[in-house]
Amino acid sequence: MRHMDVYSAVRTRQSVRRFTDQPVPREALERVLAAAVNAPSGSNMQPWNVYVLSGGPLAHLKKTVAARVAVGDSGDEREFANYPPGLRTPYLERMAALGEALYGSRGVVRGDGAGRARIRAENWNCFGAGTALFCYLDRDMPAPRWADVGIFLQTVMLLLRAEHLHSCTQEVWAEYHRSVAEVVTPPPERMLFCGMSIGFADPAFTPPRVRRAPFSDAVTFLD
Ligand SMILES: Cc1cc2nc3c(=O)[nH]c(=O)nc-3n(C[C@H](O)[C@H](O)[C@H](O)COP(=O)(O)O)c2cc1C
Repeated sequence: MRHMDVYSAVRTRQSVRRFTDQPVPREALERVLAAAVNAPSGSNMQPWNVYVLSGGPLAHLKKTVAARVAVGDSGDEREFANYPPGLRTPYLERMAALGEALYGSRGVVRGDGAGRARIRAENWNCFGAGTALFCYLDRDMPAPRWADVGIFLQTVMLLLRAEHLHSCTQEVWAEYHRSVAEVVTPPPERMLFCGMSIGFADPAFTPPRVRRAPFSDAVTFLD
């Protein structure tokens, strides 16, 4: 299935939050990342930097952050905001709908803080994945260069599909960026944007399809 067409890759990509323990072949990851660096970027800046963790280093990171979260440590000082203050329509509703899909599908109702925290904590185990990448960029890069990094990450996600692999991008790791940095030891000018768990989806668990707004909400043709 190496030659999956692009529409199929886009259609079958979804954030998978339960992986089997089947290891991700190193050669597949190398194929994906070697191809993904061909992603476009403004003035060919290629501002992405990824660190791929598995084995002992990833196990250590999972354990360290899970232990921090378990004692109520709310994380390191944030270097950037993920969302604007005072989230408004339609974004507020979209976030709420995702919460319903993620938590409701697991029988956790609104207002069950402990239940939500339990499900959210699965992030720190990379949802069972034995491989994760951590994506950094220089902290002085302005907004358009973040878009380059996003383009690169989506290229990775689609190529993973061509290798029968799935992923879940995780911005939550930035909340504990010091623990991640202890493992990957990035140069000081680099800042963690997100992690991405990578593996084979557990076929016993169907992730909820997160619906999108109609494309006419996002697209305007002017003829
Ligand atoms: C930059 C980025 C950060 C994300 N961070 C998280 C995360 O920390 N934890 C998580 O479970 N999902 C995370 N997601 C997954 C989104 O919730 C998901 O992409 C969205 O709800 C659409 O669902 P789908 O990917 O299944 O189509 C992230 C996605 C992106 C693109």
